[in-house]
Amino acid sequence: MDSVLPHDVPTGPPAGLPDPATLASLANAFFSALPGNAPQVGGAPDVAATLPFTAPVTSEISNPAPAGSPLAGPGGAGTGVPGAALPQGHVPGGNLLPSAPTHVLSLGNRAPALAPHAVAQNGLPDSAVTVAPALDPRFGGAALGVPEAHGAQRPSAGGAAPASPVSASPYYFLGETAQARTSTVASPDIVVPGWNEVSAQSLGLPGVDQPLAEQRFPYDRPAASHAAPGVAPAQHTAGSHYFLNLNEGSQFPGHSSAKTDGVPHAGPSAHPPFDVNAIRRDFPILQERVNGRQLVWFDNAATTHKPQAVIDRLAYFYAHENSNIHRAAHALAGRATDAYEAARSKVQRFIGAASPEEIIFVRGTTEAINLIAKTWGVKHVGEGDEIIVSHLEHHANIVPWQQLAAQTGAKLRVIPVDDSGQVLLDEYRRLLNDRTKIVSVTQVSNALGTVVPVKEIVELAHRAGAKALVDGAQSVSHMRVDVQALDADFFVFSGHKVFGPTGIGVVYGKRAILEDMPPWQGGGNMIADVTFERTVFQPPPNRFEAGTGNIADAVGLGAAIDYVQRVGIENIARYEHDLLAYATSVLQPVPGVRLIGTARDKASVLSFVLKGYETEEVGQALNEEGIAVRSGHHCAQPILRRFGVEATVRPSLAFYNTCDEVDALVSVVRRLSSRR
Ligand code: ALA
Repeated sequence: MDSVLPHDVPTGPPAGLPDPATLASLANAFFSALPGNAPQVGGAPDVAATLPFTAPVTSEISNPAPAGSPLAGPGGAGTGVPGAALPQGHVPGGNLLPSAPTHVLSLGNRAPALAPHAVAQNGLPDSAVTVAPALDPRFGGAALGVPEAHGAQRPSAGGAAPASPVSASPYYFLGETAQARTSTVASPDIVVPGWNEVSAQSLGLPGVDQPLAEQRFPYDRPAASHAAPGVAPAQHTAGSHYFLNLNEGSQFPGHSSAKTDGVPHAGPSAHPPFDVNAIRRDFPILQERVNGRQLVWFDNAATTHKPQAVIDRLAYFYAHENSNIHRAAHALAGRATDAYEAARSKVQRFIGAASPEEIIFVRGTTEAINLIAKTWGVKHVGEGDEIIVSHLEHHANIVPWQQLAAQTGAKLRVIPVDDSGQVLLDEYRRLLNDRTKIVSVTQVSNALGTVVPVKEIVELAHRAGAKALVDGAQSVSHMRVDVQALDADFFVFSGHKVFGPTGIGVVYGKRAILEDMPPWQGGGNMIADVTFERTVFQPPPNRFEAGTGNIADAVGLGAAIDYVQRVGIENIARYEHDLLAYATSVLQPVPGVRLIGTARDKASVLSFVLKGYETEEVGQALNEEGIAVRSGHHCAQPILRRFGVEATVRPSLAFYNTCDEVDALVSVVRRLSSRR
């Protein structure tokens, strides 16, 4: 059979697969079969009947920022929590119902996956979750790597239910396939895109039919320009729609650069205001509903959400490029290798490394630090040597060094912090000596949000003859990182905290240091030659990438970096700074609230405890309103104990959060506060 890839079939579905009309009908059938479409008994709510299926919902936060705030988008004066209340949590699987207009693009593009191939335990076909919410069409197209949205409305709630869930799953059963193909009529409610509408081109990629030679690093598009302060948004072609055109009049009536309402104002002429509504439409999960409310995601320090561009890039990889890398002469090996190595180059540029060979893909920050401790550490740290970390560290930047110290007889030294949660540089200076072999510090504390002066710390380490590792897990999504400017010997981070997939992370190491490091894990990929007598290892980075790595998610991380660069990390940093300042100004005064971590320089995190409440109680009360925060020790017990607590409630912000969402959180905390 000929290729079944959509890009190879410009005019219709390939033989053996259903046509768009069939797909439309199938989609209608399984939406109709969702719980709530069946007759209700016992007074259970009819979820489908309460859903605004035909309403042209755009579900955007209409009033993300208080009047006068520079954070405001172009929206009006809505609540910021749009959509009808949906009694989810009462209906099994109810949160799988998309709350935004259905982006049926996915249906046409991923036809085989459309068929509900298994029935979930909650009775829903598990492919329901593959339907992404619609995105504003202005965000589609090759420029963003997001395919054009096809403004489909939701299927009517009144459609006939299929006879059984199995009948909606025809593709694996020959007889049923034939039946499904002949007996269905396309619903006028569903617009199914053509088979060729998601393509390499729509993702901003070159066609995969190009000769392999032309595909060398084919995805390595030049990074979009960053929005430098003071540069007019019109000059930023790829990312310009994220910025409001100030020439069209002020978006912020009454705005002044003075601090008039508790919100720090950058001043309308300083920077293009950031259109948070545009950003939010790129993140389908932000339309999710929890306990009848639109999700508010304030758990970004634990993990960030993924823009549609990343989701689509992963799907594209598996649909068109999937292969092991570096090993075969065939076309897909070439595509997969190119995509993987292009991602490495994107990471290199993103953090300012000198070459792609300095970038090693690992599972995440924890694995990254373990790799360094167990390779460089085992080689260079001996009995009586010293390792310095700070009191702020995540367990991932404590335990591997403790293990190394236990193994080698080295000592672990700790830089103390002041009462605001900032490291004490003078104390650090006193800890450094000629036995110090490595200083390993976080750039941003995951528990307190403190931004640590890592450049000074690295410089002082070098003066003492030590190496320096910077843990960037909590920094790369919030600020520009330039490893050469920091002069860090190692820099590590996780993809999932910078809008990329889980299970992929990065070790940056200076080339000379990596070349001097022994391998950690042995196996395929990391060898140049193997006999039973000896093995010759590859140079870095392959030396440290034994076995088949997480190829697709490395590619997804590359897409996340592209996305962040299109928006501009400086714009993100500026927006988040203002949002954090606003959040602090409204949370701190709530009676009974004690902020844990009040350093002058902070990013993203607002840890607090509330008098009279366990942190879990606060977390649960917030969850009841659809607001996700982490409550607990945040894998950073030593720093919490430094402040006399075992746990905090930790809202952590990202650039898709809004002032409205902050207000929603604070109103729950206020309500709790008034009760005890
Ligand atoms: N390190 C992650 C956090 O801070 C898991 O939540």
